[in-house]
Amino acid sequence: MPIKEDKLINPVSIEEDTVVDNALRPRRLEEYIGQKAALKQLDISIKAAVQRREPIDHLLLLGPPGLGKTTLARIVATEMNANITISSGPILDKGRDIAVLLSNLENNDVLFIDEIHRISASTEEILYPAMEEYKIDILLGEGVAARPLRLDVSPFSLIGATTRSGLLTSPLHDRFGITLRLDFYEVEDLIKIVSRSASLLKIDIDEQGAREIAKRARGTPRIANRILRRVRDYAQVHGHENGHGHGQGNASINLENAASALDLLGIDVNGLDLMDRKLLDVLISKFDGGPVGLGNLATALDESKETLEDVIEPYLIRLGLIKRTQRGRVATDLARNILALDV
Ligand code: ADE
Repeated sequence: MPIKEDKLINPVSIEEDTVVDNALRPRRLEEYIGQKAALKQLDISIKAAVQRREPIDHLLLLGPPGLGKTTLARIVATEMNANITISSGPILDKGRDIAVLLSNLENNDVLFIDEIHRISASTEEILYPAMEEYKIDILLGEGVAARPLRLDVSPFSLIGATTRSGLLTSPLHDRFGITLRLDFYEVEDLIKIVSRSASLLKIDIDEQGAREIAKRARGTPRIANRILRRVRDYAQVHGHENGHGHGQGNASINLENAASALDLLGIDVNGLDLMDRKLLDVLISKFDGGPVGLGNLATALDESKETLEDVIEPYLIRLGLIKRTQRGRVATDLARNILALDV
């Protein structure tokens, strides 16, 4: 899912994130901030499963990238005192691959499949009996000599993550006992996340600085944490140039340097970046505010339909700047006002 313009607000994980994300990731349910409704449900399911010494029901996590689906899957495994195996839809091509993963699982383990909507048909076929009866059907040998063989796998939980439930086939969807929808985070929750991350990274930040980052992070912890690191760089270099601090990473983040850094990064007061503003601009100037079909919009922006639909649009919809209608995408009056103010 490439976003060419600016990787800073791309909620899809990039290499730079993995190391830091790992350090910042909450490990236990009680450390997890936000997503109250989903967490409450998960807490009960985990406790019940632990009491029964069973795996938790197969769990489907829905929501835009960067909101903590992988983190939650890891937490489930930790709380269950089980292992987690992490895979993803696009790499699960041959039925054999998933069969190997499944046969290596131990009791109550978690198998996490990110982008589960992208698994192949043969993978899906193997998953059905595995999810329902903890059995896999494999073919032993090849060609005319091939024989079907049914094998037991350990009782496990499948945790699937996807951006939209409509992307799953209904037989697969139906086999998940629990579906949890993650939504964009409230600013107050993001402030807590930024403050927690700052403390773990030994970054000094005041409440207003944290609020400014939280407000402009597209409701997404991964983006908030990424911005935090960029603002730290800015505060450090800026503080150094102004004679404060000595470039030793001890500069503190406040409203002023957070806002300046974010402006410099091209993220506006609403958390919109270049690509968001470009989308609104194209929709309003080129297509007269819509309705315009997703394909036409994607072509005009030189971006993939999936990225538009799963990564860029959800936040614009959440802010009430665009709407999806039967006939295509439409810009709202709010979008016109924001863009008019911008130029
Ligand atoms: N870091 C990223 N997401 C988080 C969350 N939801 N709670 C706590 N820390 C986080």
